[in-house]
Amino acid sequence: MNITIIGSGYVGLVTGACFSEVGINVTCVDVDQQKIDNLRNGIIPIYEPGLEKMITRNMNKGRLHFTTKISDAVRSSDVVFISVGTPPDEDGSADLKYVIQVARDCGKHMNDYTLVVTKSTVPVGTSLKVKNAIKEELDKRKVNIDFDVASNPEFLKEGAAIDDFLKPDRIVVGVESTRAEELLNTLYKPFTLNGHPIIFMDVISAEMTKYAANSMLATKISFINDIANLCEIVGADINKVRKGITSDTRIGNKFLYPGIGYGGSCFPKDVQALIRTGEEYQYELKVLKAVEAVNNSQKSILFNKIMKYYDGDLKGKTVALWGLSFKPQTDDMREAPSLEIIRKLLAAGANVRAYDPVALNEAKHHFGNAITYCEDQYETLINADCLAVLTEWSEFRIPNFKIMHKLLNVPAVFDGRNIYDKSELKKIGFDYFCIGVNTDSDILKPKLSLSY
Ligand code: NAD
Ligand code: UDX
Repeated sequence: MNITIIGSGYVGLVTGACFSEVGINVTCVDVDQQKIDNLRNGIIPIYEPGLEKMITRNMNKGRLHFTTKISDAVRSSDVVFISVGTPPDEDGSADLKYVIQVARDCGKHMNDYTLVVTKSTVPVGTSLKVKNAIKEELDKRKVNIDFDVASNPEFLKEGAAIDDFLKPDRIVVGVESTRAEELLNTLYKPFTLNGHPIIFMDVISAEMTKYAANSMLATKISFINDIANLCEIVGADINKVRKGITSDTRIGNKFLYPGIGYGGSCFPKDVQALIRTGEEYQYELKVLKAVEAVNNSQKSILFNKIMKYYDGDLKGKTVALWGLSFKPQTDDMREAPSLEIIRKLLAAGANVRAYDPVALNEAKHHFGNAITYCEDQYETLINADCLAVLTEWSEFRIPNFKIMHKLLNVPAVFDGRNIYDKSELKKIGFDYFCIGVNTDSDILKPKLSLSY
């Protein structure tokens, strides 16, 4: 079977690489000539563990190809996946212009039965728009070619994308014909053999499933962050409360880690888009509006704590940051809490020294010369007036606290991901602040570092 993946971003590349890994002949298409040239030379545009090796291996085997020529790719394919971006419009609804453009391209170039599958995250009703766009192009050509549309939302997580694709919790597929169902069943067989389920349903339900899943996960995060904030006020410890509630199997223990708000290219935009879908149908999604509001304020919570520590004046203070990406194992900074925190620190007149294992180049696109980029986590601490941990990369988990204490101008640690032990840091002499634990009673006002 020959398949084409249109849009070679996070989803397109992982999808293309994983299908070629199981022996399928895959062509990945993108409008970005530079990206395609780089991919052909083995330069992968994103950091995703395992992806570079998998792409290179399958290119060398001759079953993974990259091109900007959508016409050739569509003509030679049985199945075409659309995996272009669906960024938020001005009002927060999903902008479908790239998806519809690709649908039109399919209609312009298909010359035989083709199954067009939407993998991008799209609002309910989009498959119908895709179908109409293809039909219009076929009508313009005055040809009558049989085709199907299907919806196959993607559930991969960045940083674990390959594993998620190869061993999915489930594959969701919305279809309108038996032919489409059989084709997708065959295509996904290598991934479902070991009991990973493929769930077929109607197209609208499949489109809705993706938004419902992301919104449910975002809801869990905003819920735990809201409870964490209350824990701080009443003197409870969210880490203990989390353990207490997650031992109830009905609640489950995943996606209930408090932090500085969810970021990334999916949760913020998908929650917004679902709220807009509700509005379009005169239905108010009250829970999701609250989820969004909690998340927006949570992104400022660490900045507010630093500001409070310095009595509302950060002018001339230097803040060291560990972690810039929206989560570990990726260089993606889309909607990362770090963006909001850095903007606020700069506006308050602070200097920022930042380190991230892989996202420094990405950060340079956002902040240019406005902040200092360090190649080593300890280098950020030199003469800094506090450290803020924004992403829970493994290498930050057991640092050398004594060296940290020595390097920092003021030994204060603001832990946005609750990765450190309060009593251990206190013993060494740090002022320590995290999320959902009241550490106010431990505050010793800024003091000079003790030397070891
Ligand atoms: P991305 O921005 O990384 O990649 C999109 C690619 O599409 C870009 O390379 C762009 O140049 C290309 N493109 C745009 N218009 C095109 C056209 N007309 N023809 C060919 N290529 C075109 O986006 P992404 O993160 O891969 O997300 C893609 C979709 O998948 C979105 O709808 C997103 O919501 C969804 N999704 C993303 C993730 C994720 O973790 N990133 C997970 C699940 C679902
Ligand atoms: C998410 C979904 O998990 C995935 O199924 C979907 O396909 C795309 O969107 P992703 O955005 O890559 O994946 O990362 P995810 O691991 O879900 O984390 C999203 C954000 O939530 C991150 O900023 C992370 O730090 C935050 N988060 C996650 C928390 O704050 N607490 C948690 O307990 C879990």
